[in-house]
Amino acid sequence: MGSTCPGQHRQEVGITIQQHCHNDQVLSGQRCPDRIRDVLPESVRCRARDTISQWAGYQPTPLHDLQDMARELDLATVHYKDESARFELSSFKALGGAYAVQVVLQQAIEATSGQPVTLQEIDQVRHRDTAGAVTVVTATDGNHGRSVAWGARRFGCGCVVYMHEHVSPGRQAAVEALGARVQRVPGNFDDSVRAANADAEAHGWLMISDTSWPGYEDIPRDVMAGYTVMSGEAMDQWPHELPPTHVFIQGGCGGLAGAVCADVWYRYGPDKPRVVVVEPDPADCLFRSARAGEPKVVNITTESVMAGLSCGEVSLIAWPILSVGADDFLTISDDPVGPVMRRLAEASIVAGESAVAGLAGLIEARADMDLSVALGLASDSRVLLFGTEGATDPAVYQQLVG
Ligand SMILES: Cc1ncc(COP(=O)(O)O)c(C=O)c1O
Repeated sequence: MGSTCPGQHRQEVGITIQQHCHNDQVLSGQRCPDRIRDVLPESVRCRARDTISQWAGYQPTPLHDLQDMARELDLATVHYKDESARFELSSFKALGGAYAVQVVLQQAIEATSGQPVTLQEIDQVRHRDTAGAVTVVTATDGNHGRSVAWGARRFGCGCVVYMHEHVSPGRQAAVEALGARVQRVPGNFDDSVRAANADAEAHGWLMISDTSWPGYEDIPRDVMAGYTVMSGEAMDQWPHELPPTHVFIQGGCGGLAGAVCADVWYRYGPDKPRVVVVEPDPADCLFRSARAGEPKVVNITTESVMAGLSCGEVSLIAWPILSVGADDFLTISDDPVGPVMRRLAEASIVAGESAVAGLAGLIEARADMDLSVALGLASDSRVLLFGTEGATDPAVYQQLVG
């Protein structure tokens, strides 16, 4: 890809933005190219939106106008899409994994029965016996597994969720409360994905992953399509005539960032906001991939407090979008996470650890004149943030916020 990294390793000067890398390959000022549209086609996004909006309990989550924050950071506006209110799961992940379970069950039941089956029939659990014979499986550091388990319970199939050894007991309990069986495995998130996939093949279970690899693309595509329900809502709720100038979006495997980046590009075309991807320093696979110009693997040895972002391998289908659609890549330390969560709590917004990475990156960038300039941030900037989870692990939230 080729990229310029003027601010690499900023910890030397005591700044919590650890690394910055501008993507020289970004396609600015043009409509979304067809090859990117093909990754997440309109038909796939529309099907997700039409299906999820029919789920019982669906309603758009709020878009908060953080006026005090905008004033403090000397920005025109800062808006925060608050996913703490997303169904009863309190994270945007409710839109991805559960929806993919619905699609996979539809296909499995069609294959078994030889009859056409609709997504609505799956939602209404019209094929209880056939669905009950299916087991879905996934790997998670918390929220995705919870979504898959929630979908499995809703649509009436079995569910096994693989969790690596560092996932908190609270996150395990939340998945088990939805009736799924949790299988603990040694290693990190990427090890748990491999273990789940191997066991899926051995047992004939259906793998519902939020990350993608060669030969496994359709299900993560549906997961990403589910996420665009969130970005679509945010753009519908956007209160200004002019689009956002910047989107700060946190990155794990990149599925979320890829979905949001593609979606704002479809909608705003040549006026696409500048997309800034923010990752935890010990799990900087997107940053490193941007710097190298190709997907790079990070062997995670230190777990960030931002558990949902602790992924070392880039999602294969997200990368083509981010490689030409994301403008900048930042990494941050864990230091600002607790303070930013507390700051939002004071404004009555419940934001979990992984939710605040985008805002933490923005605050840190505004504290650094050179970086602000490099990111094109100025007093007329209009920033859109995605607060991707609420207190999804209440014990961790309590510890960090008090
Ligand atoms: C709350 C939260 N935010 C962001 C992400 C990052 O999503 P992705 O792995 O698709 O990049 C996750 C992933 O689990 C998450 O749980």
